[in-house]
Amino acid sequence: MYKFFFRLVFKRMDPEQAHYLAFRWIRLAARVPVLRTFVAAALAPRYEELRTEALGLRMHGPFGLAAGFDKNAVAIDGMAMLGFDHVEIGTVTGEPQPGNPKKRLFRLVADRALINRMGFNNEGSAAVAERLAAREPVFRTTVGVNIGKTKVVPEAEAVGDYVKSTERLAAHADYLVVNVSSPNTPGLRNLQATEALRPLLSAVREAADRTVTGRRVPLLVKIAPDLADEDVDAVADLAVELGLDGIIATNTTIARDGLGLRSSPSLVAETGGLSGAPLKARSLEVLSRLYARVGDRITLVGVGGVENAEDAWQRILAGATLVQGYSAFIYEGPFYARAIHKGLAARLAASPYTTLAEAVGAETRKATA
Ligand SMILES: Cc1cc2nc3c(=O)[nH]c(=O)nc-3n(C[C@H](O)[C@H](O)[C@H](O)COP(=O)(O)O)c2cc1C
Repeated sequence: MYKFFFRLVFKRMDPEQAHYLAFRWIRLAARVPVLRTFVAAALAPRYEELRTEALGLRMHGPFGLAAGFDKNAVAIDGMAMLGFDHVEIGTVTGEPQPGNPKKRLFRLVADRALINRMGFNNEGSAAVAERLAAREPVFRTTVGVNIGKTKVVPEAEAVGDYVKSTERLAAHADYLVVNVSSPNTPGLRNLQATEALRPLLSAVREAADRTVTGRRVPLLVKIAPDLADEDVDAVADLAVELGLDGIIATNTTIARDGLGLRSSPSLVAETGGLSGAPLKARSLEVLSRLYARVGDRITLVGVGGVENAEDAWQRILAGATLVQGYSAFIYEGPFYARAIHKGLAARLAASPYTTLAEAVGAETRKATA
């Protein structure tokens, strides 16, 4: 039914307008108590065997919403209602900013992909912190806060901008993500080089510890699929060295591999990050490589081209404790997260593993034994 509706309505609309329309419906539905209880009862994960402990947090299931969908933390309960067990809000930057000029989001329907150059359009760390502080949660969800650099802040002053966001937001975050991998902020991805990443992560860690007392906010870094393999290894080693809690692999890609000849060349040529199905193979490869390097010392989050339960299961076997999705939600619709949790429960039952935790990394361990 959703696919019919998608073809009839969303596909004919500008992708960004369609996003805001769907977003409005989700937020509205989440405000009506009877409706949200009914929807959540149907869609939220309720499988005992999928209960997940990650980053020192207890979750109902491993699958959540990737950053970029709810940039300003306005629909956390709405997304939880749809069965995403964790919701990563952001990217939030130190200062508010409008993002890139429109049009900046493109659908490559035939390739089940998106290209975006949104450029971190968001209300900024002060406004988002205020919203999170005032939030009265309806559903028990894990809230990740993803932070990035304000565009006008020079690369040399990036640390200060991330620290500002950390000071404002860490107290409201179940976990905090340093995003250094979006392709749409000039220079951002240079921060992935270990010489730049070490002082940045150390400063964010210090700022989180200074501002949040009584608990240690888990800190993760989100990396690009376009890193060379040696650079993936270097980030993994740095993460271990700094005692980081997790790595999210991966963000969107600037490459245009994995596309068929179905999407029009003018769409494929749009500048920005490619996400969805064509990203699947590289994201999985980066994840396996990370797991082979860090094993269970660091929590890995698998994201990029996860379209269905089989994809999510492959991420878990490769080494992900948590899995996220964004693009496929646009194409699959409101039952996306539910289908993934349900399919994961079935796959776990049919597997030799008794718990999800046992399955994490099993394939990569086999391959490297
Ligand atoms: C329109 C759009 C906006 C995004 N914005 C962000 C963002 O602000 N911060 C971020 O870390 N990732 C962002 N992402 C990347 C996603 O979180 C995810 O890493 C990527 O899309 C790969 O997953 P997918 O193939 O399931 O979409 C964005 C993705 C899309 C499609």
